[in-house]
Amino acid sequence: MKHIKFTDEHGSFTLRQPENTSYLYFPLASEAGLKSSVTPNLGGDAKMDQETFLLEPVSSENLHNNRSSRNFWCVADKTDIFSATGVSDGQEGAKFTPRQEESLLTAGFMWQKTERVSKSMQLASAVTIFIPKDSNVEIMHISIQNQSDRTRTLTSYAAIPIYGRSADNIRDHRNVTSMLHRIFVKEQGIFVCPAMSFDEKGHRPGSRIYYAMGVNGSGQAPERFYPTVEDFIGEGGSFTHPRAVHEEYPGYPAPWEGGGTEAMGAFRFETVTLAPGEQAEYILLLGTEAEDNKENISRIFQAYNTPAKVTKALEETKAYWQKKADVGFHTKDKDFDCLMKWVSFQPFLRRLFGCSFLPHHDYGRGGRGWRDLWQDCLSLLLLEPESVRQMIVKNYGGVRIDGTNATIIGSGDGNFLADRNGITRVWMDHALWPLMTTKLYIQQTGDIQILNQQVPYFKDAQVLRGTALDELWNTEYGNQQLTAENQVYVGSVLEHLLIQQLAAFYEVGSHNIYRLRDADWNDALDMASEKGESVAFTCAYAGNLLELASLIHLLDHSSMEHTAELLEEIEVLLCSDPEIYGDVSKKQEILADYASQCRHNISGKRASFSLSVLAVNLTQKATWLMDHLRSQEWLEGPEEEGWFNSYYDNQGQQAEGFFPSGVRMMLTGQVFAIMSGVAEEAHIRKIVKSADRYLYRKEIGGYRLNTDFHELKLDMGRMFGFAYGEKENGSVFSHMAVMYANALYRRGFVKEGWKALKALADAALNFETSRIFPGVPEYFRADGRGMYHYLTGAASWYMMTMITEAFGVRGEAGDLILYPKLLAEQFDANGKASITVPFAGKRFFITYENKNGKDFGAYTIGSAFCGQEELSVCEDSFALLPRSMIAALPEETHCITVEII
Ligand code: G1P
Repeated sequence: MKHIKFTDEHGSFTLRQPENTSYLYFPLASEAGLKSSVTPNLGGDAKMDQETFLLEPVSSENLHNNRSSRNFWCVADKTDIFSATGVSDGQEGAKFTPRQEESLLTAGFMWQKTERVSKSMQLASAVTIFIPKDSNVEIMHISIQNQSDRTRTLTSYAAIPIYGRSADNIRDHRNVTSMLHRIFVKEQGIFVCPAMSFDEKGHRPGSRIYYAMGVNGSGQAPERFYPTVEDFIGEGGSFTHPRAVHEEYPGYPAPWEGGGTEAMGAFRFETVTLAPGEQAEYILLLGTEAEDNKENISRIFQAYNTPAKVTKALEETKAYWQKKADVGFHTKDKDFDCLMKWVSFQPFLRRLFGCSFLPHHDYGRGGRGWRDLWQDCLSLLLLEPESVRQMIVKNYGGVRIDGTNATIIGSGDGNFLADRNGITRVWMDHALWPLMTTKLYIQQTGDIQILNQQVPYFKDAQVLRGTALDELWNTEYGNQQLTAENQVYVGSVLEHLLIQQLAAFYEVGSHNIYRLRDADWNDALDMASEKGESVAFTCAYAGNLLELASLIHLLDHSSMEHTAELLEEIEVLLCSDPEIYGDVSKKQEILADYASQCRHNISGKRASFSLSVLAVNLTQKATWLMDHLRSQEWLEGPEEEGWFNSYYDNQGQQAEGFFPSGVRMMLTGQVFAIMSGVAEEAHIRKIVKSADRYLYRKEIGGYRLNTDFHELKLDMGRMFGFAYGEKENGSVFSHMAVMYANALYRRGFVKEGWKALKALADAALNFETSRIFPGVPEYFRADGRGMYHYLTGAASWYMMTMITEAFGVRGEAGDLILYPKLLAEQFDANGKASITVPFAGKRFFITYENKNGKDFGAYTIGSAFCGQEELSVCEDSFALLPRSMIAALPEETHCITVEII
């Protein structure tokens, strides 16, 4: 029996008895800042940021532990006590017994509904919770139905514990900070205004209001209030057995004022009489506003104080998010298509939540890292390209003149903060991602001129690629690089890219491989900063050098100017003597020379460089690197196996190979060797064979990140401290598994790429083991459970790979290319596979017709039409829609049909 059932084409789904599965949570958020997690029992939390938690912050273990959840109680005929969210001692005790209530969860983008039926009490409840797209309020719409055949009285209570302070106060003055609470009861609800907040940043007067308001279906306000936890649970009571409900405590009428203790958004509504089958409705509004914006609270109340208004807002919310993630897949497998809806929605969740603020993501203080920032742009580029140019340009302002970058990222685009504590960490992969994103941007839009856009450089005390401090720098200097004349220096995006790629080229360790520094993509490879080298990312950078060369060619061909004005200091990095490429110490000297010229201020002088000469220079470096990698890092195994070593540890030893303790193989090195072109076809065949043998476990999502090293490698990183199968140590880490698929597709290994993608999708959809709602989780652990759900870069890459590789819908210098790499098994019973996707501001519905059921490799493109217009087919393999033609199309959905023969 399927557990998760999709109910519409937007990915909405149902799950019976969701409370019987642990650790389930669902994200809700608005564009205005409120972010919530909500469990099937309405546990979870709600916050604006690290310092502004409306509900108590939860980590994954709190999901089954906490009883302080959003609750709604009903007392029927003064005797039957029922929690509409299923959180009461009686309901908990009935779990897994024949007395357990029936429950059903239904959810879609940014909304969740839970329904419960208590046979013994003859009551049914439905609780819908969502956050409107533009308000910082959680709306709960509750209905309670009398399922008996007699008329009954019903008294209902809302019960929301209001935490109202910083997440840090969980283990830092939780009790003292409750003393800061000032609580006001007004007609519509309970308002908590902390008098002040204090932490290491200082003491500040309170500036926030947290609230819980309520109204019944006929517009009546609550009649009695329980504004503190103690008032509600009573002496010796608990959240699952609140004495106010069980013993009908009188509470207080509004108005009331008090404080100094844990606050509670609890109130009782007037008792109503329900005829058989009749239902009562209630609306709860939980939110927070800044003190100086408090009139918003009454605006919100007015906007959502009737069931009709709430229903309308819910429909608007659904429509808004469905429109955002406006990409649709139609293949043979409907469940897969629905899963893709969620995968396409996940990048929006990551934009809103960053890498924090869901129960597994109990770290960070909001925001995203540099690498995530750039990769999340990939999906935006495919869905909302208009906003991306500015984002990209601003993000380049985070690059330092030595090619490293700021890693402390404030809110908003391009707001990079100085590292004031002198605790630097340099991730050697960081310079890689901007080029990947910029390249996709240029391909999708044709805007090659972005390379000429002038952008400043970031400046703080960190110099010489994070190895020294600039004593002359202080906050007065500011965060932008200055010239000798104390002018802010601006250089082109191209210059930023060149500095990033070239500086990295020279930062090598003893094997002439790029140094690992404090980690690469794998954040948990953080203990090999002296002698560690990352072969995996050296491959990736080699690929980047070629990509940059091709962009420079494109620029050269599309501009009148055939030169670029670049900072004079760069000259030394453009050395083209192959003898030097092979000489580790010379390379290090060159980098030291460049970095020390840029230690404080730079000359600001520019020299002119020929674009074609620059491209040749980069190509020459890439070619040298690739040869070096192939000859030095390939590990040939028996039986047509083999793969690339991915790392050197802190003792300068190769990490992979055939060891007495077993085979050591890592996926990362293979991914970037394949993606960059370092791996040749013969290599790829052997890599695939080895990965299938040593890393592939279909039932847990496919390709694991590494084999079990059976060693606590303190000379590599904390990943080896994780038990094997967890997170970066040998789980099926979705992001890398998807990048593996992407790399294989790019190189034409389509069956192999699809195998990697499909294994992930199958594992995610297999609720029996994954135990997650639809979507791709950060990783699958050894028993197949999906972990760290929703917020993962894997989603952007999955979506991108499906669109640009499997369906082959992508830009090439702004034109639209349709180059399907679909397998016969992906076409439906009528031989069709289609995709709806935006491109260049227009919306396309593209259908591939494969009447003869052929596989990629065996088919060619017969013809292609956009409406009535025939498209040109190139090399029998792809159809092309020129930019000029797209620009002339009206604003509507355009059908493209491609015949595969
Ligand atoms: C996370 C981080 C990402 C990092 C990866 C591996 O991946 O966000 O920056 O590279 O772990 O350590 P994600 O959650 O994006 O899949």
